[in-house]
Amino acid sequence: MARKLMIAGNWKMNKTANEGKALVEELKNAVADICPCKVDIIVCPPFTTLTSVLEAAKGSNIKVGAQNIHWAESGAFTGEISGAMLKELGVEYVIIGHSERRQYFGETDETVNKRLKAALANDLKPIVCIGEMLEERESGKTNDVLATQLAGGLADISAADMEKIVIAYEPVWAIGTGKTATPEVAEETHKYIRSFLTDKYGKEVADKIVIQYGGSMNDGNAEALVSQADIDGGLIGGASLVAAKFTALINNALKGSAC
Ligand code: 13P
Repeated sequence: MARKLMIAGNWKMNKTANEGKALVEELKNAVADICPCKVDIIVCPPFTTLTSVLEAAKGSNIKVGAQNIHWAESGAFTGEISGAMLKELGVEYVIIGHSERRQYFGETDETVNKRLKAALANDLKPIVCIGEMLEERESGKTNDVLATQLAGGLADISAADMEKIVIAYEPVWAIGTGKTATPEVAEETHKYIRSFLTDKYGKEVADKIVIQYGGSMNDGNAEALVSQADIDGGLIGGASLVAAKFTALINNALKGSAC
């Protein structure tokens, strides 16, 4: 089944409001001729850069996401941001459970699940990140780790809600290291993720779900990765911070896309 390509840039803690605006001004001109019917192009800047990026992206084919969301509607949670706050700004997507949040900020499958429910309640489209560490891959535990993350992260999520969720598979050992999973290794894992979703939600739902690859994806490897049957796009870190690189990546991914 052909799923629409989805390429999202995770800017992480990069780009001030002014820098983000400049990047989107450049990017929107570079991708202006790409039909939104073929690919969803998303940028996910830091919270403080959302407003200037939303303004710059207006009327273009670039959509905007945040990098985190708190599960409560409001309250005494210093430093956190609620779904209503994001929604009011005009944010459409939100990344949840990125491995850097799991590694450095104590994110667990349980908090991923709470944030996911908050995103759905606020009509935001969640991008849920999962992925194994190097030692887990080397000891043959990849599928078990992913199954645990999926089962915990997606606890109590209905099939109707599942259709609104994007999964990003990001092997931790490939993030920012220049080491990409080969298209074959990535596909084998994506296939496993889709089979998990098929068992839990049935084939009709699982076939609709966009599963992105993330981890040192760039303009050189995007086409080969995306040409795999179960790889429907990418969540891009470093290569999304330069308009020309991100545009080249999108164009090359389009060559590999079945859609
Ligand atoms: P890099 O593309 O820099 O490896 O980062 C991937 C990532 O973590 C995207 O969320």
